[in-house]
Amino acid sequence: MTALWLLVTTCLMGFIVTHSAKRISEPPFNYDGSSRTHCSSSSDRDNQPANRINTTIRLRQLRSEMVRITAVKGPPLDGYIVTSDDDHQSETVSPRDMRREYITGFDGSAGDALITLNKAVLWTDGRYHIQADNQLDCSWILMKQGRNGVPTIPEWLKYEFRDHPGTIIGADPTLVPAFTWETWEGELANSSVKLVPVQNNLVDLIWQKTRPAYNMYAAYPLEEEYAGRPWQEKVKQVRLKMKDAAADALVITALDEIAWLFNIRGYDLPNTPVLRAFAVITKDHIELYAPHHKLSRAVDIHLKTDSCFHANCVKRRNYTTIWSDLRTNSQAWSTVWLPSPCGYAQGASRAIFSAVRPEKRLARPSPVIALRAEKNKVEAEGMRRAHIRDAVAMCDFLSYMEDQINLDSDGWDEMQVARLANEARFEQDRSKSISFPTIAGYGAHAAQPHYEPVNTTNVLIGKQSTLVVDSGGQYFDGTTDVTRTLHFGEPTEEQKTAYTRVLIGSIQLASLVFPSDLRTDQLDALARAPLWSAGHDYLHGTGHGIGHFLSVHEPPISISYTQGTSTSECEAVKMKPGYFFSNEPGYYKEGEFGVRLENILEVVPSEMPAYKGQTFLKFRDATLVPYEPKLIDLDMLSPEHRRWLNNYNQRIRDEVGPEMKKQLRMTAFFWMKQKTKPIPEWGPANQSSTFKRSHVLVFAILIVQLLPGIRNIWS
Ligand SMILES: *[C@@H]1O[C@H](CO)[C@@H](O)[C@H](O)[C@H]1NC(C)=O
Ligand SMILES: *[C@@H]1O[C@H](CO)[C@@H](O)[C@H](O)[C@H]1NC(C)=O
Ligand SMILES: *[C@@H]1O[C@H](CO)[C@@H](O)[C@H](O)[C@H]1NC(C)=O
Ligand SMILES: *[C@@H]1O[C@H](CO)[C@@H](O)[C@H](O)[C@H]1NC(C)=O
Ligand SMILES: *[C@@H]1O[C@H](CO)[C@@H](O)[C@H](O)[C@H]1NC(C)=O
Repeated sequence: MTALWLLVTTCLMGFIVTHSAKRISEPPFNYDGSSRTHCSSSSDRDNQPANRINTTIRLRQLRSEMVRITAVKGPPLDGYIVTSDDDHQSETVSPRDMRREYITGFDGSAGDALITLNKAVLWTDGRYHIQADNQLDCSWILMKQGRNGVPTIPEWLKYEFRDHPGTIIGADPTLVPAFTWETWEGELANSSVKLVPVQNNLVDLIWQKTRPAYNMYAAYPLEEEYAGRPWQEKVKQVRLKMKDAAADALVITALDEIAWLFNIRGYDLPNTPVLRAFAVITKDHIELYAPHHKLSRAVDIHLKTDSCFHANCVKRRNYTTIWSDLRTNSQAWSTVWLPSPCGYAQGASRAIFSAVRPEKRLARPSPVIALRAEKNKVEAEGMRRAHIRDAVAMCDFLSYMEDQINLDSDGWDEMQVARLANEARFEQDRSKSISFPTIAGYGAHAAQPHYEPVNTTNVLIGKQSTLVVDSGGQYFDGTTDVTRTLHFGEPTEEQKTAYTRVLIGSIQLASLVFPSDLRTDQLDALARAPLWSAGHDYLHGTGHGIGHFLSVHEPPISISYTQGTSTSECEAVKMKPGYFFSNEPGYYKEGEFGVRLENILEVVPSEMPAYKGQTFLKFRDATLVPYEPKLIDLDMLSPEHRRWLNNYNQRIRDEVGPEMKKQLRMTAFFWMKQKTKPIPEWGPANQSSTFKRSHVLVFAILIVQLLPGIRNIWS
């Protein structure tokens, strides 16, 4: 799954601080947003893309709530910000919490909306520029984050309301990370605009009939055979970190942190197996704030919740009690550790911060992040096994597709590809769900890094262009994420060159041996170099950490040169054995085709002896799925690249082959054998060279045959 700079606020921090003050008088370059398709003429307006939702009525309703004093419990608002967050700052949220999707009609996973009394603006990052332009109706201004001259929300507000002192902009403090809120507030200081928390969520007030409910499925314990370590030990480690930081209490708000810490899993986010809960840990208490019906009897026993009066059992609390408890209990604490942002973790909300008096707050990345990143032996072994079964599923699906796509007279479309990829995974042992919605994009869609097929955009798979399939699974023993690029006709030279450049980037990163002091962001150039050298780049990160039967994007690892370096200690992460992360360079030619290749890598010790006390590490591919030989231009590969590819293919045969045989998936097995054939490591790789080799061989045999006496010379 493509990892982008989700923490746009973090990245822009440095920029904001240095550049904001002087820009108020002149309009930011892109103040009116990008030009919108199908919005210029009146005939355009009658001919809207099928996946655009008309938000006229929703916007009108929201605006009437903005000025209703009972709704905002304060002065009327001139604007209202709707983020993509839930109460836990999850990366993807439950359908019930998709407020930004509801108000904008744009359903990509990232973006912030701002609605004023006469304008509506959406900010979103490079993954979603095209999709947002398609889905937003013409009343929306689109801000393409990551492009030059695009203002931030505060910059836009300051310019829009420059002549209106006393402008009041509201937002729900539970749905804005504290760090983001502070950044916005700092930027708006001394301007005509004031940001205020609004306790009622205004979208909830207007979104009634069609709003989905939360599901009722209860959480369950993750057995130690998968988790590798009892939760009590993990809590002990967390308490040590708290002691080091002199914190009396730690508030955990991120759902995947709670799931990891207590060895429990649930059903409360789409594709990420977590329980909706908050946790508070002190020296002698552990409190879990979860909806009552979500804790099954098995979880109660696992967490020892019955008559819990000591430090190593969990006290159950009502989910919504967190707010009053935090206010009351924090009066007795002198230091409360509140999570600040770290990579994909956005930290706790402004509302959580507000519940603790400022002088008591210790804002730091959650201690769970670093402890969790280093997978224990059982988790690491589980990840490897899950990737082997996942590879069987992928080969099964890819071989079936290659076989059938030509036979099916109706042809295959993108949604069919996604459905089959998902089905292949469900057939595997210990499979629980997919790990994110499968991306299957053909042609121009393959050139959108985060395209996800829906019935209104669905196209047939043709033979001229490439198909990018980015998918993954959740298994009890691990999470997977893999991308392969396919072609069902004769690829053009341009397509082959692009594929091979991406492959070389991927190989260069995967084959690195490096000292353990290297920072993760320093790896980025290796994967991009073959693209940079041809004047290309890709607008997403090269890699992201991945969880163990948890989030497919897991902090702190992020491989991206666009990262800031100063805002958080999480950004100077050093690789350690047991880390798992993705390696996913890409090539995107807008409107034509795209290539992305993604493997999960594990960090392992290298055999290299230490150099002046510095140990060396290397990577091991956890993902073992064949590449497409016809898209590889072997003449572009060096002998080292070819050797790497041969070794990789050999590993697929040795490690995935036996599992396929065990599962009697022989079609997939023979397909895999075909795709992983060894290639010559030296010289031109085409047939004429193979001919030459066989000539030499025949010649040698002839000599041996014709001159039997030769043997005697040496014997
Ligand atoms: C959107 O809905 C409003 C209200 O129903 C209607 O007046 C307007 O014409 C619609 N716009 C489009 C582009 O269909
Ligand atoms: C706002 O004004 C105060 C006092 O005049 C000043 O100290 C502060 O630096 C200003 N902040 C910004 C962001 O301009
Ligand atoms: C949780 O809150 C509800 C509603 O306030 C209340 O009826 C219920 O008894 C509470 N449960 C617990 C375990 O405190
Ligand atoms: C697309 O899906 C929606 C909702 O699932 C459905 O209502 C609609 O009829 C579908 N459209 C087509 C063209 O299949
Ligand atoms: C095969 O290699 C020869 C040189 O060894 C080269 O001239 C020829 O163009 C190559 N053919 C292909 C199809 O790459």
